Amino acid sequence: MPFALITGGHSGIGYSCARHLASQFTWDLVLAGRSPGRMNQAADGLRRDFGVRVTCIDLDLSSLESVREAAANVITLMDRGEIGALDALLCNAGGRFDGPVAYSEDGYELTFATNCLGHFLLVDRLKDRIAENGRIVFTASGTHDPDTADGKMVGAVVEPDAETLAHIGKNGIAPVSAGKRYSTSKLCNILNAYELHRRLENSGRSVSSIAFDPGSVAGTGFLRGMPAPVRWLAKTAFMQWVFRRRGITMGSLDFSGASLARLAADPGFAEASGKYFQSNDGKLIETRSSTLSYDRARAARLWDQMEDLAGLRPKEDRNRHDDGREADRGCG
Ligand SMILES: NC(=O)c1ccc[n+]([C@@H]2O[C@H](COP(=O)([O-])OP(=O)(O)OC[C@H]3O[C@@H](n4cnc5c(N)ncnc54)[C@H](OP(=O)(O)O)[C@@H]3O)[C@@H](O)[C@H]2O)c1
Repeated sequence: MPFALITGGHSGIGYSCARHLASQFTWDLVLAGRSPGRMNQAADGLRRDFGVRVTCIDLDLSSLESVREAAANVITLMDRGEIGALDALLCNAGGRFDGPVAYSEDGYELTFATNCLGHFLLVDRLKDRIAENGRIVFTASGTHDPDTADGKMVGAVVEPDAETLAHIGKNGIAPVSAGKRYSTSKLCNILNAYELHRRLENSGRSVSSIAFDPGSVAGTGFLRGMPAPVRWLAKTAFMQWVFRRRGITMGSLDFSGASLARLAADPGFAEASGKYFQSNDGKLIETRSSTLSYDRARAARLWDQMEDLAGLRPKEDRNRHDDGREADRGCG
């Protein structure tokens, strides 16, 4: 049976996706997250309702050590024959972290550490364990594009420079708002998805790397850091109407989850690598992401910097992008 690993698969859009993968495609699942009790509950529901195999793996994406351990645990399960090669790796977990700037145990700004760096390292560790024709899908957000209503809603992106983003608010780097930290982390997800696509293609592997915007989805844990009245208001029909009027990309828990499942498993998306898809008002469409997201030099620099921050590159290889020549070597 094919199977997918999904980060944050026990709640919100991730859980909706897990239910669609199990019910429509009969895929087995690995749920990876930092809330073992809630993961086990979700896993029980998936087994009971759809008869699929579900394994839970502890993973705190904000901690590089936890990501390394989680990937090692997945590999051990594979080597023991308890699970097969991954048909899909869904980098779905994430969120916006309101309030003052906070840092991970590695000392990196929490939004960047969780949404970007943790997934970057997870993909690095598991990419050789992805089946041929398998897919890696990054859950991004329309907020990454400052030229859209989504981008204007939360705060325009700042320069996607990993060194700066990781240390925002310290080392003399000015803090930026939670909204900007979030939208920029999602821009980084898309730059990274495209860069990974080019690297996979150049290496001759038939693994896809896809970026996905679920649209604005009410009823998930996404606004958990917001005051209760804001959370309540966001779910009302009135606010949904206002969002539509303003041109916000509108998802729903069921449709956006189903869309993510289709990007992972539907043969109709076999040629989706290097592309960006949006779930909007009941349609899953391929569309263009922001102008900046297609900047290959920035994507290559971001990749190198994330390798450094995640401890993936020997010291002597560092600073290659500093003179600008190496940063332009974007693949493909
Ligand atoms: N809802 C929207 O309007 C919207 C719009 C665009 C994009 N998105 C994106 O969609 C994805 C899913 O969000 P959602 O709306 O479904 O919200 P959600 O219900 O809060 O789901 C987020 C998931 O991420 C997990 N997570 C957060 N920090 C983590 C960490 N350090 N390590 C491991 N897991 C972690 C959460 O786990 P816990 O339960 O343990 O906290 C949760 O399972 C996110 O990437 C979000 O940015 C959402």
